[in-house]
Amino acid sequence: MAESSVAGAVREDRLWQRHADMAKLGGTPKGGVNRQALSAEDAAARNLLGAWAKARGFATFTDAIGNLFVRREGTDAKAAPVLSGSHMDSQPTGGRFDGMYGVLAAFEALEALEDAGMKTRRPVMAVAWTNEEGSRFQPGAMGSAVFAGHNKLDEMLQAKDWKGVVLKDALAETLKAAPAPLSDGPPGFPLDFYVEAHIEQGPRLENEKKTIGVVTAIQGSRRYIVETTGEEAHAGTTPRAARKDAFAAALRIATAMYEATNDADDTLRFTIGRVDVAPGSPNTVPGKTSFTIDMRHPANAVLEAHEKKLQEIVATKAAPCSARIERVTAVAPTIFDPRVIDLVRAKASALKLANMDMPSGAGHDAMHIARLCPTGMIFVPCERGVSHNEAENATPQDLAAGARVLAEVLADLANR
Ligand code: GLV
Ligand code: MN
Ligand code: MN
Repeated sequence: MAESSVAGAVREDRLWQRHADMAKLGGTPKGGVNRQALSAEDAAARNLLGAWAKARGFATFTDAIGNLFVRREGTDAKAAPVLSGSHMDSQPTGGRFDGMYGVLAAFEALEALEDAGMKTRRPVMAVAWTNEEGSRFQPGAMGSAVFAGHNKLDEMLQAKDWKGVVLKDALAETLKAAPAPLSDGPPGFPLDFYVEAHIEQGPRLENEKKTIGVVTAIQGSRRYIVETTGEEAHAGTTPRAARKDAFAAALRIATAMYEATNDADDTLRFTIGRVDVAPGSPNTVPGKTSFTIDMRHPANAVLEAHEKKLQEIVATKAAPCSARIERVTAVAPTIFDPRVIDLVRAKASALKLANMDMPSGAGHDAMHIARLCPTGMIFVPCERGVSHNEAENATPQDLAAGARVLAEVLADLANR
């Protein structure tokens, strides 16, 4: 297949410039971004995307959890749309491409369709899902989970960030600062297909010198909060036998958990990413701690078995303190639709882009939307696989290559 007009209309310079423009919103001195969900920086990104959409004559709207949609009409306005996108929120020390690439690649595809003058039967839409990262408000991938009916809107609106700000209030602030028409009715509407582009966030494509990852699956993931409770005491006077040191208990628990999750083939992913110690005074024995656990594996049974081990550890290692573990979220492994997998592979090959099939280690909004409609993903390489890091980097050429594959895939699907 020769490069068709849609792929040919994808503009590497425009896509790269849009990344640079977005990277200014929450930009950090080290070249990354801090654009956490429903922050002022998130609102600024929403406004910028909205302005670009308006300039191209695309309609925008949000839903009740703040997911932001951009719509390019099809010739059959009643046909279920083909949707593509990702997220614009970042980790506190995040990179410029995680999530943002998927939103901008989708928007580039809409612009390429427009520039190529190609009409599609179905509407093609871009989306920026709310709070994918889950670093400020838990759980992550919240907007897509609510859209897909996996999480309840009312419960999510009550989520609190680490400072106690309620999500409902942060969302109201954000939508006040970045207004867009609110879609009526509950989240979720009929979708024909969903395809998400993303940087790989791992080193495989770069190591194997491939430009396109044809994503076949996403591993399952679970998040927990562990709390230990002891007794505050004077650091200078309290003998060891009289201490109920909540941090020492957390340390025993954490150490046992690292051991229990240290699998021989290095497939299970176990991370303690946040620890809070209270009251947080150098000369008071801590009375309370809490820490987060993020655990992932391609097989649900393995996650299940390890969850039991974590519970046992919490029950047996805390004394003389007490401890509890709470599961915050569980997402089963996702297998993508063979039609999307085959189409992505075919389009990448037709564009003469070296490609390989691969599962995703990271979670993505696509794991929730896959419950609603046939879904797939496209990966492009990122430098040394580094992500969730301000040093995250990708080349303009690879980003454009992924956008070309995406534009071709969306054009095909939208003309079915
Ligand atoms: C997404 O950022 C994830 O944690 O997989
Ligand atoms: Mn992401
Ligand atoms: Mn991320």
